Amino acid sequence: MPHPRRSAVLAVALTASVALTACGPSREPEATGTPTARETTTPSPEPTPTPTPTPTPTPTPPTFDLSARSIDDPASLWVVVNKLRPLNPSDYGATDLVDVPIPYVYAPVLRKEAADAVVAMFAAFTQETGLQMQSQSAYRSYSSQVSVYNGWVAQLGQEAADLTSARPGHSEHQTGLAIDISALPAVCSLDQCFADTPQGQWLAANAWRWGFILRYPSDKTPVTGYEFEPWHYRYVGVELATEMHDRGVTTLEEFFGLPAAPTYAG
Ligand code: DAL
Ligand code: ZN
Repeated sequence: MPHPRRSAVLAVALTASVALTACGPSREPEATGTPTARETTTPSPEPTPTPTPTPTPTPTPPTFDLSARSIDDPASLWVVVNKLRPLNPSDYGATDLVDVPIPYVYAPVLRKEAADAVVAMFAAFTQETGLQMQSQSAYRSYSSQVSVYNGWVAQLGQEAADLTSARPGHSEHQTGLAIDISALPAVCSLDQCFADTPQGQWLAANAWRWGFILRYPSDKTPVTGYEFEPWHYRYVGVELATEMHDRGVTTLEEFFGLPAAPTYAG
């Protein structure tokens, strides 16, 4: 039987050992409810992050891709034909030509996409105004352009003819993308007074919506080489016609940064 004193000493030793093991001499004291001096100082406020102003997004206008289509290929909707930019080959004739089911003086044919656009445009015009228009002339082959140009030269002389009729190989009519439009009943056909008719006015304001541009504006003879032709519309597609309309650029030469073409090179 253990000696009572030894047992008591052993019990105290064991208790101390357990206590030391449980608490650990290096352990930091538990925080108690009594705040320390450091804790009573007013804590510096955390720096409030300055709210970063949300930048107002500046709308970046989508860049119009000037090279999306060729301006050299005679089959391109964007081909630029003028006195310095003959069709290549000069006797180019459009393919995919179709009859255009609209009133006419001479039965019109155009490339399919342009024909569909003309039909839609004529229908919209009649729906909006109750009036009618007709085609005066649309696709012309190289040989047709020879006849037309020679007729103007015979009537006006070459210098004046060159201001109103393209030499063969230089006419947009050979592309199947151009149409001369007149009023029905006919008023001011192929005359600058067509600009003052309801048809001429409506076309000037609205043709871009169907992908057409008035190709020879009144103030652009030094650029295009032709006098004002309020009847001559050129199909370039809605995308380009809309861009030109929105930017207020009225000639293909200016839009594509091409040299003005007032006269033939040779
Ligand atoms: N009247 C335009 C310029 C043409 O003959 O193509
Ligand atoms: Zn024309």
